[in-house]
Amino acid sequence: MEEIVKTLPQHTSSWSKGRLTYCMYEGFWMTKRFHEGVTNLAQQSYKAQPNDVFLCSSPKTGTTWLKALALAIVTRNKFDESNSPLLRTTPHDFLRHLEVDPKQSEENQNSSFPLVATHLPYALLPKSVVTSTCKIVYIYRNIKDVVASHYHFEREKIKLSVEDAPFEEAFHEFCQGISNFGPYWDHILGYWKASLERPGTILFLKYEDLKRDPMSHVKTLAEFIGYPFSREEENAGVVENIINLCSFKNLSNLEVNKTGSFLALNTVVENRTFFRKATDGDWENYFTDEMKEKIDKLIYQKMSGTGLIL
Ligand code: A3P
Repeated sequence: MEEIVKTLPQHTSSWSKGRLTYCMYEGFWMTKRFHEGVTNLAQQSYKAQPNDVFLCSSPKTGTTWLKALALAIVTRNKFDESNSPLLRTTPHDFLRHLEVDPKQSEENQNSSFPLVATHLPYALLPKSVVTSTCKIVYIYRNIKDVVASHYHFEREKIKLSVEDAPFEEAFHEFCQGISNFGPYWDHILGYWKASLERPGTILFLKYEDLKRDPMSHVKTLAEFIGYPFSREEENAGVVENIINLCSFKNLSNLEVNKTGSFLALNTVVENRTFFRKATDGDWENYFTDEMKEKIDKLIYQKMSGTGLIL
C-alpha cells in the first residue's frame, strides 16, 4: 500500500506543521488513512443491493446529522427517543462509512436497515452501486461554513491550536481543491450530474434547508428512502420526536458524544469532534473581505448553471 501511495501526487498542508498529508486519487484529494480505505474497498468489489440507501456527503456538510436522521427514521418501529441506540452510540460508530469499514457496512446492509454511508465521490462509488437502482441521499452545505468546519476538524485531529494553525493558509488550500475528498465543488458536481442522468434516484438535501424547515425535509427524506410517515404517526408527533432526538442540541449534549470515541481506520476518533457549533454563517468569524470575494468568484465559476447555491 505504501508503495502505491508513493506514486500518487501528495500535498502536506503548510498550516499543519507537517502533520496533515493528502494524496490525490482519481482526481480527489484524501488523507492517506482514507486512501487506504478507498483502495481496500475497490479490491473488495462491494455488492450493492437494489434496496440499499446510500447516504453520501463530502466531509463536514452534515453527515452526522443525516446518519442520525436516517437511522432514527428506518428503526422507528423498534426504537423511540427513550431507547434509541443514538443515545448510547455516536451515529458514526453505529453506521460506519463504506470506505472505513466495508465489513460493517455489509453487516448493516444485511440487518434490518439498508443504510450505507460514504464520503466517496460519485465517480469512485463501487460499480454495483452505480449500476443498481439503489437510492442515494446527498447532503451538501454552504461552502464557506464547510471551509471553517473542515479547518477546525482537521486541526483538532492533528492537535494544533488555532494560534498554531493559520486559517488563511487552510482557506487558500481549500480553494485549490485540497481538502478531504475535495475539490468540494467536484464532489457536489459529480452527484449533481448523476442526478440528472438517473432522475428519481438521488435526493439532494441542503444542510441549511434542513435546518430552516426540518419538518418538511425529514418527511421528504423518509418518503424518498421508502419509510414514509403515516398520518397517524404525524398526528402522534413521531416526526417532531425524531427531529428533536437528532438535533444538534440533543446529540451534542449526550455523554457518549461528549466523551466517547471509536476506532476507524486504526485511529481513535473522538466523538465530540463531530459536534462543534452547527451555526450557519460561522465563516464570518474567520473570513476577510478578500477571502469572501475569492470564494464567491470560485463558486460562481464552478457552480453557475446548476441552480445549486453554495
Ligand atoms: P460545524 O463545524 O460548523 O459546527 P459532518 O457530520 O459532515 O462531519 O459535519 C459536521 C458539522 O455538522 C459540524 O459543523 C457539526 O457541528 C454539525 N453537526 C453535527 N451534528 C449536527 C446535528 N445533529 N444537527 C446539525 N448540525 C450538526
